[in-house]
Amino acid sequence: MMQPNIKIIEVGPRDGLQNEISLLPVEYKVELINQLSETGLSHIEAGSFVSPKWVPQMASSDEVFKQIERAPSVTYAALTPNLQGLQSAIESGVDEIAVFTAASELFCKTNINCSIEESIDRFKPLINLAKQHHIKVRGYVSCTMGCPYEGDIPQKNVLETSRKLLELGCYEISLGDTIGVGTANRVKSLLTLLKKDFSTDQLAVHFHDTYGQALTNIYASLDQGISTIDTSVAGLGGCPYAKGASGNMATEDVIYMLHGLGLSTGVDLEKLITAGNYICNKLNRQNGSKVALASNEQ
Ligand code: HMG
Ligand code: MG
Repeated sequence: MMQPNIKIIEVGPRDGLQNEISLLPVEYKVELINQLSETGLSHIEAGSFVSPKWVPQMASSDEVFKQIERAPSVTYAALTPNLQGLQSAIESGVDEIAVFTAASELFCKTNINCSIEESIDRFKPLINLAKQHHIKVRGYVSCTMGCPYEGDIPQKNVLETSRKLLELGCYEISLGDTIGVGTANRVKSLLTLLKKDFSTDQLAVHFHDTYGQALTNIYASLDQGISTIDTSVAGLGGCPYAKGASGNMATEDVIYMLHGLGLSTGVDLEKLITAGNYICNKLNRQNGSKVALASNEQ
């Protein structure tokens, strides 16, 4: 049964921009986030406090947080891989943080330079400190449908890693299909397994569209009762440590589908298209949303 109200986590300013090689001026990032704040979105991942040596594009996240105009109805979130990142996030006044690990050992090592178990140990003091500051923590599990280095990933690995993050105090697990290899049956079987232990409101889905399966996979997730979906405006993005990972599913296309299904999102599609056009123009790249392309031609 589909839930009537769907929450969109807009990850464009983080997952979308982190893969851009040339450094984007802070002013463009701020303008993108300000425009997104006017669309009715309730959650925007605005940056990440990671090592600038690993992801140079995100090094300006503190400036971005300083300069954005915050809408009271929007949660502005950021990724924090360690205590150092959390300290910076607190100084920048983030509303919420996300920790991130993986269901694949090799991906975890390549992305955050530690094993899955070490990542969990690293998150313990981090999450405790976030709680002391009344900052909610979201947890990401990458490679839930497959890994660029290990290939197939057993679903029990996803279950175990998700359980550990929830036990540490994450309020929700975002299931990342980092390289977009999942198909609908796999989504259904993974969610069926996870729903035996967790409720649907503890689960979110995060599909990259590398193999063109993301929209179908989102539909399959809705069918399983999932009501939180991560998407990226204009389909921007990819993970710098997952070669070939293209953008997340475009927010515009997901909103179009959800509204067509009669589900509520609170998001104004036209304003969203304007925000996507703005950033594509600045990046000098083709808009990755089909809905935006069709609407721009009218
Ligand atoms: P490390 O090299 O093992 O860390 O990296 P370290 O503790 O040895 O520190 C090395 C240097 O980095 C030191 O500087 C630290 O100060 C600095 P130095 O002394 O050499 O000058 N440093 C930091 N600087 C600023 N902020 C920090 C920070 N931490 C250390 N927070 C580390 C370990 C985790 C730091 C590194 O691997 C890292 O930053 N990784 C992040 C990679 C990343 O951001 N990937 C993309 C996001 S995940 C993703 O996209 C997937 C997702 O979308 C879901 C999906 O699609 O599946 C979420
Ligand atoms: Mg991602």
